Amino acid sequence: MIKIAVLASGQGTNLQALIDACQSGQIRGSIVGVLCNRPDAYALERAEQAGLRRVVVDHHNFIDRASFEKELIQVLQSWQVDLIVLAGFMRVLTANFVTRYSGQIVNIHPSLLPAYKGLRTHQRVLDSGEQLHGCSVHFVTPELDSGAVIAQAIHPIAPHETLESLQRRIHALEHEVYPRIIGWIAAGRVAFLGSQVYLDGAVMKHPVRFWQHG
Ligand code: GRF
Repeated sequence: MIKIAVLASGQGTNLQALIDACQSGQIRGSIVGVLCNRPDAYALERAEQAGLRRVVVDHHNFIDRASFEKELIQVLQSWQVDLIVLAGFMRVLTANFVTRYSGQIVNIHPSLLPAYKGLRTHQRVLDSGEQLHGCSVHFVTPELDSGAVIAQAIHPIAPHETLESLQRRIHALEHEVYPRIIGWIAAGRVAFLGSQVYLDGAVMKHPVRFWQHG
């Protein structure tokens, strides 16, 4: 059973999906703690309700990123984590932090990477008249939203799609694909070595893609 730390800043709906997946056995791992940089994050409530250890490391209390991350590292070391799962964690992590945990940090991003890195992805996708949108699960590397993508869930955009409906759809997809891929990592099926992703022992040439229809 791998030990997972979840880092979150907000609502924590992905955290909830991961909690449920650990409880159901879809993920053969345990969440050993939830770390938030915001004391008002609803993710903390979810963690409490699930009986999980919670720590707030408020970035406002640190003079720079290095000292903030030093504190994060101390907590993660004390939990002896195998995998760090970013679930709506709204702080950019430095190269120092990311390389220290190379192959052990994953993120979910609400776009079909490498398209639409950064924020406000749903609005930007709609504004550009795209036909496809989705989310990507990727290993985290120093450059923002640029790590090797493990899997994507793809949503064909409907003609009547609004920002709200798109947000809802993508969020729902995230809650399916993230636990699934964390489950694969926990089972040892997926690994990041060098700069490549391996699935079942073979180098992945492209991300696994799940299509949503209807
Ligand atoms: C998700 O949209 C995820 O893709 C992004 O941050 C958001 C977190 O949502 N990285 P929640 O806090 O899990 O509800």
